[in-house]
Amino acid sequence: MSAPKKTIVAPSILSADFTRLKDELQAIEAAGADWVHVDIMDGHFVPNLTMGPFIVEAFNKLTDLPLDCHLMIQQPERYVERFVKAGADWISVHPEAEGNPRLALEIAKKHGAKAAMALKPATAVWAADGVKDLIEMLLIMTVNPGFSGQEMMTHCLSKYAEARKRFGPDLLLEIDGGVKASNVAAVREAGVQVIVAATAVFGERDYTAAIRGLRGN
Ligand code: DX5
Ligand code: ZN
Repeated sequence: MSAPKKTIVAPSILSADFTRLKDELQAIEAAGADWVHVDIMDGHFVPNLTMGPFIVEAFNKLTDLPLDCHLMIQQPERYVERFVKAGADWISVHPEAEGNPRLALEIAKKHGAKAAMALKPATAVWAADGVKDLIEMLLIMTVNPGFSGQEMMTHCLSKYAEARKRFGPDLLLEIDGGVKASNVAAVREAGVQVIVAATAVFGERDYTAAIRGLRGN
C-alpha cells in the first residue's frame, strides 16, 4: 500500500454537540468526512475523561465511516479488545502510556483493527521503531493530549519528514492538534496524509466548506 493522493479528513467527535450526536455524525458524513476520530481519555494518561467502548459501539451503529480511535489511556492492552469489538477500525496507542502498548497493538490486529502509534509532541519519532512491523499509521500530535481547541505547536511539523525518511513511503502519517484553515497549507506541505480536526470542523457553521478547506480541494 502506498500513501493515498487524497488527504483523509477525520473530524474529532470530541467537539461535536453531544446532545445531537446522531445528527452530527450524519452531518459530517454528508459533508465529506473520510473517518471519525474518537478521542478516548482515561483521566490518568491525560487530565480529561471522555468515552468508553459502549459509546464507540453507538457511533458504529450511527455511521458507516471508519472509526479512528485514539487511545489516550494507561494500560491500553487491558481495554483494546473491547474497543475493537465495539467497532473501532483503527487503534492508536501511546508509547508514553504505562503498560504494554506493543501488546495492545497486537491484540488490536488480532481482532481485525488497523494499528497505529501516537506520539506526544515531546516524543521523538524513533519511539515507534519497536512497533514498525505492526503499524500502518503514525499519529504525530501537535498539541499535548487532553483537550481540543489548543494552539498547534508548529515546531512539530518537521517530525513528518523525519518519520517518512525513517519508516518509508507506505506508512500513513496523521496529524492531531490545532489544525485550522490558517495553518493547513503548512500541514499538507509537511507531508501529512490524515488530518484530524475538532474545532476546525465542529466550530464552523458549514461543515462541507470546513472539510473541503482542510483537504485542500
Ligand atoms: C487532543 C485530541 C485531539 C483534539 C483535537 O488530545 O487528541 O484529537 O480533539 O482538537 P483540535 O482540532 O481542536 O485541536
Ligand atoms: Zn486525538
